[in-house]
Amino acid sequence: MKIELDGPRLTSEIEALAAISDAEAPAVTRIVFSSADLRARSWLKARCEEAGLAVRQDPIGNTFVRWTGSDPMLPAVGTGSHIDAIPNAGKYDGVVGVLGGLEAIRALQRGGFRPRHSIELLMFTSEEPTRFGIGCIGSRMLSGTLSADAARQFKDSEGASLDEVRERADLGGELEAVKLTRDYYKAFVELHIEQGPVLERERIPMGVVTSIAAPASLIISIEGSGGHAGGVLMPARHDALCAAAELILAIENAALTSGAIDTVATVGICEVFPGAVNSIPSRVRFSADIRDTDLERRDRAMQKMESAGKVIAKKRQVRIGTELVNADAPALCAPQVVEALSESCRRHNLNFLPMVSRAYHDSLFMSRIAPTAMLFIPCRNGYSHRPDEYASPEDIVRGTLVLAETLAALSQ
Ligand code: HGY
Ligand code: MN
Ligand code: MN
Repeated sequence: MKIELDGPRLTSEIEALAAISDAEAPAVTRIVFSSADLRARSWLKARCEEAGLAVRQDPIGNTFVRWTGSDPMLPAVGTGSHIDAIPNAGKYDGVVGVLGGLEAIRALQRGGFRPRHSIELLMFTSEEPTRFGIGCIGSRMLSGTLSADAARQFKDSEGASLDEVRERADLGGELEAVKLTRDYYKAFVELHIEQGPVLERERIPMGVVTSIAAPASLIISIEGSGGHAGGVLMPARHDALCAAAELILAIENAALTSGAIDTVATVGICEVFPGAVNSIPSRVRFSADIRDTDLERRDRAMQKMESAGKVIAKKRQVRIGTELVNADAPALCAPQVVEALSESCRRHNLNFLPMVSRAYHDSLFMSRIAPTAMLFIPCRNGYSHRPDEYASPEDIVRGTLVLAETLAALSQ
């Protein structure tokens, strides 16, 4: 079967979606359930309905776009990703997997292919942690990794709960209804930009993901005693920001001394109180993001952070509290889905690299309920989560072609 992709249309759709944003181009900001996100969701729904596909949303806003197969009772083959974007992001993260998935389905339709298993495109809610502090809310709930009760506790920075935000987005139904049964999907495949430099550096057009690293994130609160920046002499100080600085370097050191290049850690958010030039910080709250492809090594890095915190708290006479936001296991991708992707690359003489995903994705959670794998395309300089994120139309079309063939093979 010859699969003809409409590259120019796909490229123009990526541009059109990028324009639905709360940031000045070329940056994209599309926080989950913001007005931009809601407009983007309607835009996507219209594109899917134009293709004659049935579109439905679950109570958390995960969007399912189904191409019903000849045997509709069989478990579907899923594909998809996210369209929410962190502040000042690029236009390809997640979007390539959603619009590439849509174009893959349209190309199969145009080519006269008829799936036996239905093929279902998903757009997951809140892959990014920006609004509620934890990533992959939609796929965590679909896979049962996040319960409805736990999700109801979430609040955004304005104190709005998930239920309030859902209601404003006209999303009805109970959160308990989001969880899918384990046999809902026969397989799940996600097309995504690599968000790293390897494919471009090695000049390899395709990455077939064999495992997804284990992410953990925590919120650390430090309470010292404030005071006048001039009047309090150094020996009498319990400067919360100096304690935080020491702990932040200890977190970095825990990753650097783990014995493997795969351990990574960063502090992306740091709030200082009272935040006045001439006032000693009395409270600091910061995030820690710690990941590794190996669960034990990641957990050891987290333990090193805890021990360093205890030493610093004693030495500086400050109180240090840690709130675990998430600590997920890594995902091993399903050999049969990895092989289907590899087979398609070989068929097109496309060199491909079996590789780890260091970023997490909705596939990390879909792997809990379905045989799952991912397909990466290169992105320029490995840049992502920044306005100059870029994937070439050629790479996007190649990735969409392999995705389309893989969906066809898995849905026979
Ligand atoms: O942070 C991540 O790995 C993903 O891009 N949200
Ligand atoms: Mn991202
Ligand atoms: Mn992503």
